[in-house]
Amino acid sequence: MDKNDRKRLGEANLAQIASEVSVCERCMLHHSRKLAVPGEGPVEAEIMFIGEGPGFHENQQGRPFVGAAGKYLEELLATIGLKREGVFITNVVKCRPPNNRDPLPDELAACSDYLERQIQVINPKVIVTLGRYSMARFLPNAKISDVHGQSFRIKGRVVVPMFHPAAALHQPSLKPSIERDFSHLPELMAKSFKAPEVEEPMPETKTDPTQLSLF
Ligand code: URA
Ligand code: SF4
Repeated sequence: MDKNDRKRLGEANLAQIASEVSVCERCMLHHSRKLAVPGEGPVEAEIMFIGEGPGFHENQQGRPFVGAAGKYLEELLATIGLKREGVFITNVVKCRPPNNRDPLPDELAACSDYLERQIQVINPKVIVTLGRYSMARFLPNAKISDVHGQSFRIKGRVVVPMFHPAAALHQPSLKPSIERDFSHLPELMAKSFKAPEVEEPMPETKTDPTQLSLF
């Protein structure tokens, strides 16, 4: 299979995931959604951003990070010479929690497989988690104020937890931190490599924090 075949296959896989998400009824959140938000970006993206869940505007449009937090995310990307079209952007839950409440454990669990499949297909060099809920997927016991901006190698992938851009909009004192953390991404990308291709999705395993190594 050559590069173009792999790209076409990857795009078909992402489209398949998106179409399953659009009609998914695996958790209660499907009752209140207008549009599910599978995520978007090129299959060759080297960097993947994972937020929490769709908000009001995302639910209306079916696209991730299109409100105020999305505008700030685009500004942050621009500071390191990236455009949103060049990265993959998604969330840990694909449907909007009512009134933007936090996603519940059973909703995160129900939705988890879609994100896992997206990660397998895209195979990004670096995964940036935005906010506590997506961080907890990889670093269940970490405190974001302690670990933001650091890189961890988890199951062969480089994961960098960062504050959520919406948190920085509400709490401007976080802005210098998130901006500094972004400024280190290009260097990290240069050092990272794509994880080996895996044919089968890996089984869900609990991450043992003692095995985490600081990258
Ligand atoms: N906040 C998120 O976490 N995700 C979005 O898609 C939009 C805002
Ligand atoms: Fe399905 Fe995820 Fe939406 Fe729940 S949040 S209905 S699991 S796509």
